[in-house]
Amino acid sequence: MNVLLIGSGGREHAIAWKLRQSKELDRLFIAPGNAGTAACGQNVDIGDSDIEKLLEFAKENRVGLAIVGPEDPLAAGAVDAFEKAGIKAFGPCGAAAQLEADKGFAKQLMRSCAVSTAEGRVFEHFADAKAFIASRDEAVVIKAAGLAKGKGVYVCDDPAEGINIAEQIMCDRIFGEAGAKLIVEDKLLGEEASILAFVDGHNIYMMESAQDHKPIGDGDTGPNTGGMGAYSPAPVVTDKLMSQISREILVPVVDAMNRLGTPYKGVLYAGLMMTSGGPRVLEFNVRFGDPETQPILMRLKSDLLEVCLAVCEGKLDGVTLRWDPRPAVCVVMASGGYPGDYEKGKVITGLEAAGAMEDVMVFHAGTATRDGQVVSNGGRVLGVTAVGTDIAAAKARAYEAVGKIAFEGAYWRTDIADKAIGRKRR
Ligand code: AMP
Ligand code: GLY
Repeated sequence: MNVLLIGSGGREHAIAWKLRQSKELDRLFIAPGNAGTAACGQNVDIGDSDIEKLLEFAKENRVGLAIVGPEDPLAAGAVDAFEKAGIKAFGPCGAAAQLEADKGFAKQLMRSCAVSTAEGRVFEHFADAKAFIASRDEAVVIKAAGLAKGKGVYVCDDPAEGINIAEQIMCDRIFGEAGAKLIVEDKLLGEEASILAFVDGHNIYMMESAQDHKPIGDGDTGPNTGGMGAYSPAPVVTDKLMSQISREILVPVVDAMNRLGTPYKGVLYAGLMMTSGGPRVLEFNVRFGDPETQPILMRLKSDLLEVCLAVCEGKLDGVTLRWDPRPAVCVVMASGGYPGDYEKGKVITGLEAAGAMEDVMVFHAGTATRDGQVVSNGGRVLGVTAVGTDIAAAKARAYEAVGKIAFEGAYWRTDIADKAIGRKRR
């Protein structure tokens, strides 16, 4: 079968690498892809949100399955368009993708089916948001309701700071239309975890747990990013908590989507805070997480193409998810300055030496090929991922591989997976 994978990040390189291992795969096209995906298939120069062109390409190249990686084309109805043309597509329909694209919708849905989340309110006018934030004397979390590349969330310990951020989001529109609505919610305390599940409309198959590292700096300091590293499994999520998350979060949400007449299909990602009162939802994503996908797929032993097809056909109960029991750690190497302004086009060296290490995969994110050299082409540049006998060994191996790679201004956190290692020691 020919497959068209849409996207260009580290997540897409990991998906492409994993699909390549499938016996069912004939040709793999990645649109637009990056320097890493070019080694797994054929990159196609079409933007990930140009749905019309993607569809045309799929028809011309006898694509049997389209896999939509990022949230923007999902929210814009990419899956609906492919299905209408008779091409199987992996991911939720546009209406179901609102679970991520409209945090106000997600809050309301969670409220309607009693899923535990932070207390929050949705505002459409800055004056109302300002009055509400000013009336509070504790920390607030301010979120642009729409899609903002993972950067639209601010945890503000001081309400004055919250008002300032709210003004930038709603009045200055620093995230464009994503800031037309604002969510103000309570700050939750605890350790975070990412739970991803394959959902085929009714069956829910949870993947192994993972943990992301959102802030730019060591010790979770500085502004939020798209994610600076991840590991799997996350020991904070015990087996007991996994079943509680399935029962009290995933099942009610998938049921609610069915009642709304927009069955959920694809990957459902719950970003959770493991509070002293149990797991609470911070956000839903309607796709594989980035960078969680890199360590998760390095551990997946089952055929990903088979799983994706089963999701599209509503036959998930016909497949088994098998996992490598060894943990995996992914360290993101970013461009200096990210998540603010940064320069592109820096030549990257050492990729071969790092990639040649046993149980290491260097997943590309923001990279491109220029004059035969791999250069940086985005904020998050690489996701250096390693498997190890335990989490400390996986971390050590990932950082050993990072040490072999260089580009001007390269920045990475040095504490990825430390929470898991500390927990194990305790
Ligand atoms: P989100 O994109 O909604 O997951 O938010 C990005 C990050 O902001 C999360 O990974 C958390 O670190 C933080 N965050 C979001 N909502 C809250 C909350 N209610 N309490 C504390 N931290 C939060
Ligand atoms: N790792 C968080 C995300 O994919 O949005």
